[in-house]
Amino acid sequence: MTTLTINGNTKLYGIVGNPVSHSFSPDMQTRAFRELNLNSVYLPFLIRDHDLPNLLTAFQLINLQGFNVTVPYKEKIMNYLPELSEEAEFIGSVNTVVKTKDGWKGYCTDGSGFIRALKNQKIAIKNSKILLVGAGGSAKAIAFSLVKSSIARLHVQNRTKEKAEELVSKLKRINQAIEISTSPGDPSNYDLLINTTSVGMKDKGIPLAEEQIAKCKQVIDIIYNPPLTPLLYKAKSLNIPGNNGIDMLLYQGVEAFEIWTGQTAPVAIMRESLKNSLAFVK
Ligand code: ATR
Repeated sequence: MTTLTINGNTKLYGIVGNPVSHSFSPDMQTRAFRELNLNSVYLPFLIRDHDLPNLLTAFQLINLQGFNVTVPYKEKIMNYLPELSEEAEFIGSVNTVVKTKDGWKGYCTDGSGFIRALKNQKIAIKNSKILLVGAGGSAKAIAFSLVKSSIARLHVQNRTKEKAEELVSKLKRINQAIEISTSPGDPSNYDLLINTTSVGMKDKGIPLAEEQIAKCKQVIDIIYNPPLTPLLYKAKSLNIPGNNGIDMLLYQGVEAFEIWTGQTAPVAIMRESLKNSLAFVK
């Protein structure tokens, strides 16, 4: 690691949200800047609802280069961004913004981060059959990136069936070559099961039946706290390999860093930062 110097050329980045003090990103991104000896800092910005319309003007004035967006502004920020990536447009949510020649461009790195997490875990999805549980923001992001990859089949299962149906019909428009449908609910064989719901985060719940889990070859729960969710625990008891959402959290940040800097992110140092931050979470 090198020493961080702040001077007249220091570039400014940050994260916008309310609350924002819980975010792991300031430490993760600042360590990454330091590791690559980039003269940049990353700060948390607590923004109130009524200040959002003036945010980009303020950032323009202070010459901020890029920022992350967290709850509750991931959708609302889109109203102010002149340009969006295809992924952000599809999902209807932005977590990364970069300053461009003409203004600002919004991205959502959740889905692409998820795909990179799979690669890191050596989980091959080519020609695979995938069961996606949930149809909220995270499910949309992951589903978008999955149907842009060469998977064979995607089934979406959600408590509110209409939301799954709506997502499926949107997904079908972007790739007709993949078989995409809502899950029949009956146990069927899948190469990969992905839980995107919040079930298992605070409660002891599992969002699908044991017979369904038993027919899956691999499980990913995108929850990272607790690290071993009831679903992952069940998968383990059935001898099915499982992974939590830490890698997705890591790689969405890696992707943001690379969008801002154009450089390959120092993944190991960013992972270490996340591990440290998580150790402090109750
Ligand atoms: P995120 O942005 O984290 O994906 P979200 O958009 O609020 O969050 O989506 C939450 C997902 O978890 C939804 O699929 C939701 O199902 P509904 O569409 O039926 O609301 C799912 N979910 C939340 N609580 C659930 C529960 N107790 N049982 C089953 N699914 C649940």
